[in-house]
Amino acid sequence: MKKILVTAALPYANYRLHLGHLRSTYIPADIFARFKRLQGYDAAYICATDEHGTPIAVEAEKEHITPKAVADKYHALIRQDLQKMGCSFDIFSRTTEPAHDELTQDFFSRILENGYIYESEIEQFYCPKDKRFLPDRYVQGNCPHCKAENARGDQCESCGRYLKPTELIAPYCITCGTRPIIRATKHWFFKLSALQPFVEGWLKGNKRIASNVKNYAIQWINEGLRDWCITRDMKWGTPVPMEGAEDKVLYVWFDAPIGYITATRLWQESKGNPNGWHQYWQSEGSEIYHFIGKDIIYHHAIFWPAMLKARGEYNLPTAVVAGEYLTLEGKKMSKTRRWVVEISEYLKTFEPDPLRYYLTISSPLNKDADFSWDDFAKRHNDELADILGNFIHRNLSFVANYFDAKIPAPAEMNEDDKVALKKIREAADQVAIFLDEFSFHSALKTIIDLAAHGNKYFNDKEPWKFLKTAKESAATTLNVGTQIVKALAIMLEPFLPFTAEKIWSTLDMEGSIHEQRWQDIPKEISPGHAILKPQPLFVKIEDKTLQKQKEELKESLEAVGTKPQITMEDFMKNDLRIGKIVDAERVKGSDKLLKLLVDIGGKNIKQAISGIAQQYTVEELKGREIAVIVNLKPTKIFDVESQVMILAAEDGEKIVILQPNQPTMPGSKIR
Ligand code: 2FM
Ligand code: ZN
Repeated sequence: MKKILVTAALPYANYRLHLGHLRSTYIPADIFARFKRLQGYDAAYICATDEHGTPIAVEAEKEHITPKAVADKYHALIRQDLQKMGCSFDIFSRTTEPAHDELTQDFFSRILENGYIYESEIEQFYCPKDKRFLPDRYVQGNCPHCKAENARGDQCESCGRYLKPTELIAPYCITCGTRPIIRATKHWFFKLSALQPFVEGWLKGNKRIASNVKNYAIQWINEGLRDWCITRDMKWGTPVPMEGAEDKVLYVWFDAPIGYITATRLWQESKGNPNGWHQYWQSEGSEIYHFIGKDIIYHHAIFWPAMLKARGEYNLPTAVVAGEYLTLEGKKMSKTRRWVVEISEYLKTFEPDPLRYYLTISSPLNKDADFSWDDFAKRHNDELADILGNFIHRNLSFVANYFDAKIPAPAEMNEDDKVALKKIREAADQVAIFLDEFSFHSALKTIIDLAAHGNKYFNDKEPWKFLKTAKESAATTLNVGTQIVKALAIMLEPFLPFTAEKIWSTLDMEGSIHEQRWQDIPKEISPGHAILKPQPLFVKIEDKTLQKQKEELKESLEAVGTKPQITMEDFMKNDLRIGKIVDAERVKGSDKLLKLLVDIGGKNIKQAISGIAQQYTVEELKGREIAVIVNLKPTKIFDVESQVMILAAEDGEKIVILQPNQPTMPGSKIR
C-alpha cells in the first residue's frame, strides 16, 4: 500500500493555539489524513512541538526558567488541545528528542559534504550591555522592506519576508533596549542561492503545490534567493557538529522541518519498526503533504525542498498547502490585546465538531476567513442542526418507531428513489476530487448538499402518509434514506469525526467509523439490519450561550461611549503637564516596561514606569517632551515605584506616546 505522510507545521512550544491555527493548518491536515486512511492508504498524520530557537529561549529568560521547562509546559497543553479537537496524530513528538539532534547533525554533515554549506565570517549584532550576540528575535527594529515596526531579527511578520538581523532599521536589544553594535563572528551558511534553479524548476513543475503557495514563492524567487546563515550564537538548540562551533547551535529553521522526519522515525520505532520510516521518506512512490500557515510558505516551499535536495536521498514534498489568515469578528487576532479565542476557551462551552465544521465551510483555505460568533451559531443551527441533524434524526426515528428499528426492504423504486441513490455515488466521487485538490470547503459543502437532498427527498415522499395505507412505499423511502445516512457517516468522518462515530454506532454497524473504506460509501446496508434508538446529533446554540461568548471577547476591547459621563470639575482634578524625559532604562525582568525619569518643571524629576519598551528604544525617548499626569497616586509595578503616568494612544496594534507638536516647557499645563 502506498505510504502517505501528512504533516502539520510544528508549533513553537511557547504559546497555546487558537482558532486561526486550527483553521489554517491542523484541521485541514487532519481532514486530509483521515480521508487518505479511509481510502485505504498507509497514511500517517505527523506533528510535534518545535522546541528550539529564540522564541522559547526568550520566553524562558523572561520567566527565569529553563527553555526545557517552557517547552514541557506548552508541549503538554498544545498536544491536549489538538487531541481534544479530534486531530488524529499518529505521533505528536518533540524536537528536543535526542534522535532529533542526531538526524539534524546528519543533515548538516551530509549537506556540507555535498558542498552546500560553507563557513564565513560575518557581522552580527552584539549587545554591549548584555555582552552577547543577538540572534534573531533577540533583536527587533523596523522592517527594511515594508517599514513595519517591531520586525523581528529573523522575519517580518507584516510582510512575511525573511530578514538578516543587521538589515533592521533602528535595531534594539529586546532584553535591555540598548542599540546593538556590530561585531564579526564565524558562522555556517546554506548555499540557497545555488539551489535557486532547482527550487524554481521544482515549484513550476509541481502541479500539486497549492496556487497561493506557488504565487508567493515565485515572487520571492524572482527577487533572488540568498544564502541562509544556519548557525546561531546561543546555547539552546542542536549543537553544530564542527570544531570551533562549541558556543553555537544550528538555526531553529534548519532543525524544525527535519522534525517531520524524526517524528516519523520515532513513530515507526514505537511500533517496533526501527527502519520503517525510510519507506515514508525515501521510497519511490510515497507521498508527503505539508500543511502550514501562510506565514511559513518561504520555509516550506523554498528552504525545505532545497535542504532535501542538497542532502540527497530523500523524497521531495508532494504538495505544500497553506491556509490563509483567520480574523475574529472582522479584526486581526492579537494575543496582546486579548482579541483571540484559544482552543481551550472554545472547548469550555462547545463540542469540537461544530468548530471543525465552521472553520472548514466558512471559506476556501486559500482565502482569508473570519470567525464571528453570530455566524458560527447561525451556521451551526441552520446547517448542522436543521439540515444534517434533522435529516438523519427524522429518518432513523421513523425506522425505529415504525419498522421495529430494522432497515426495511425496499419495494419497487421510482425515479426519485433512483436519483437519491445515484446522488450518493456522485457525492462520494465529487468529495474525493475536491479533497485531492485541497478544496476542503467545497467538499464539505457537497456533503451538506447531499443531506439537504435527503431532507427534500424525505419531504417529497411523505412516508408518514403511507405508513398505514401503502407501507411498502414508506419502506422504500426509509431504506433509501438510511443508505444516505450511512454514506453521510463515512463521508463526514474526516470532517466531523465525533459525529460520524455517533451516527455509525446508532446504525449499529460493525467496527468503528474510522476503519471504514471510502469505496464502500455506496455499499448498501442489508434490509433487516437492526439499528439503535437515535439521539439528536446537534442541540441548537441558544442566544444566551452566544451572548456570553461575545461579552467575554468584548471586555477586551472597550467601545467608545461606554464610560459614565464626568463633570468639568471631575476633569479638573487631573493635573496634566508637559514633561521632558531626561533618562530611560529597561525594567529588569520585563520586556514591555521602561523606567523613565521625567522633568515635570520646577526642578521636579519624577519616575514613570511605562509599557512602551517594545515601541521605543531608550535612545529615541531621551529629550522628548511628552504629556503626563502628575497627581496620580503612586503605584508599584515590578517592584519599582511609578510616580507619574505618561499618556499614550493605543490603537490595538501599537502604542504611541503623546507629544506637543511644538517645543514647550516642562511643567506647562495641559488643558
Ligand atoms: O512558525 C512556526 O510556528 C514554526 N514553529 C513552524 C515550524 S514548521 C516545521 F518546519 F517544523
Ligand atoms: Zn516587512
